[in-house]
Amino acid sequence: MIGIFDSGIGGLTVVREFLKQLGGYDMIYFGDTARTPYGSKSPETVAAYACQDTDFLISKGARIIVIACNTVSSVATESIKAKYNIPVFEVITPAVELAVRMSNKYRFGVIGTRATINSGIYEYKIKQINADAKVYSAACPLLVPLVEEGWFKKRETAMIVKQYLQPLKVRQIDTLILGCTHYPLLNNIIQRKIGQRVKIIDSSAAVTEKVKNYLETHLEIDKMLSRRGQTKLFVSDVTDQFKKTAMAVLKKKVSLEHAKI
Ligand code: DGL
Repeated sequence: MIGIFDSGIGGLTVVREFLKQLGGYDMIYFGDTARTPYGSKSPETVAAYACQDTDFLISKGARIIVIACNTVSSVATESIKAKYNIPVFEVITPAVELAVRMSNKYRFGVIGTRATINSGIYEYKIKQINADAKVYSAACPLLVPLVEEGWFKKRETAMIVKQYLQPLKVRQIDTLILGCTHYPLLNNIIQRKIGQRVKIIDSSAAVTEKVKNYLETHLEIDKMLSRRGQTKLFVSDVTDQFKKTAMAVLKKKVSLEHAKI
């Protein structure tokens, strides 16, 4: 089984991409809805939560782990890789590689949670590939709660997005990385507010591509993964609102099971 986790339900954007590209594989998702958001917590707390999330997925049979959360990817990937002896994928490297391939002017914008932006990891990774690149970042802490509430199309959301993107817009970025797995759900508003010419990089699509390539070239791992096309979704707190948002993301009826971790 492919195990995927996030601090909440934003990581379902990764599940959505996996269903498109790797739909035959069995998947298990865990969203830590009881403790979301992670983006405003300390790196130590995020790393401790992330290990508990990974333990849960492994206890249910996951043979590879996908960290569908930029916050965990930016502060806890190394702890997870050190602790577990199975393939672990994070969302940042694939997004950076795709962004650098797509950019013409190497003027990047990055938006994410406070923890992700404060970690400086996007700038570090982009500059490792191209030291002359310009990287402008903005923390957008209000966007995660708006997504969790399902406010994808509201005028208020558009106003907040505009405000957050303004400092990046004046820098004339040509590529904008959505450094949070919740943000693809605001893709239309973000594209409108940053301008149609700016390329938007979605880390969900980028990590899916990475896992797909990995499985094609690591048949010994691929062989271990069951394929009945089943997807199980677990969350640490089940509410009607989470159910509604999960259905809006996956565009189908879903059942969220409660997981005690
Ligand atoms: N989905 C998380 C991320 O990609 C953000 C949510 C949170 O702050 O917990 O960073």
